Amino acid sequence: MFRLAHISDVHLSPLPKPSFSELASKRMIGFLNWQRARRKAHSGNTLPSLIADLKDKLPDHLVITGDLVNIALDQEFKDASLFLQSLGTPSDISIICGNHDAYVPGALARAIEFWQPWMAGDDQPLGSTNDYPVMRRLEDVALISCNSAEATLPFMATGYFRQQQADKLAQLLDEADRQNLCRVVMIHHPPIKGSTLFHKRLIGTDRFQQVIRDKGAELVLHGHTHLATRHQIIGPTGAVPVVSVPAASNGYGGKRPAARYNIFEISRKAGTWTICMEEHGITDSTGKISLIAKHTLA
Ligand SMILES: [Fe+2]
Ligand SMILES: [Fe+2]
Repeated sequence: MFRLAHISDVHLSPLPKPSFSELASKRMIGFLNWQRARRKAHSGNTLPSLIADLKDKLPDHLVITGDLVNIALDQEFKDASLFLQSLGTPSDISIICGNHDAYVPGALARAIEFWQPWMAGDDQPLGSTNDYPVMRRLEDVALISCNSAEATLPFMATGYFRQQQADKLAQLLDEADRQNLCRVVMIHHPPIKGSTLFHKRLIGTDRFQQVIRDKGAELVLHGHTHLATRHQIIGPTGAVPVVSVPAASNGYGGKRPAARYNIFEISRKAGTWTICMEEHGITDSTGKISLIAKHTLA
């Protein structure tokens, strides 16, 4: 059995003090947003206690589906690198970027420079977003990372899934299927219509879903909504679960659910994959982490 843990939307705090030149961009809006609302939601002891509880569960691998930082300052990227190092080695953790990691033009390239060891696939270094999707093999699991993060105009948080990624995703899903691997696909933005506001949606949702309908997968993981949701896309051999997890730093009592992590227990029985999902997180004002629910996904 392989135990895969999932967290998302870390929105690491505290936010380093930006320079005047760093704020002369869309970052000014994000900075004001942080001061006005996000700081309260994402600060405090929530993230450390969630991580401590997760570490106790000894998962085989951890995936983080984006929004590690807030306004993509270089200092935030450095702080997030230290955070990742505190979690384990790059072979234990795989990450993708979210819209906050690509907040302004050029930020995503900086994120790749800083976080390359946690982002690259097995076969090649990650030179740029043109290399996506990339695949890592973890025992009998093929973990396929897509990138939906791009710098957008102020007040927009859309993601993009273009044809180039669709073509390569189809190839990787075929390749992993030929090797009888359990195919887990990661993307930051939700590949489900209506699951987020219009200005936060994934442009290319139909394209992504078409690949899954044609090629199949065993699990799709995303973030961005900060919600605990389970949807599905119907693949060639049955329903493919599409799962999101609340933000890993979100405190109790706000607009969004408090922090959670999910653990997927992946095993093969009689030639088919079985995936059992456990949700762990904060359910009351004490901030204690407990088991919330268990589900059999496939
Ligand atoms: Fe987020
Ligand atoms: Fe996001």
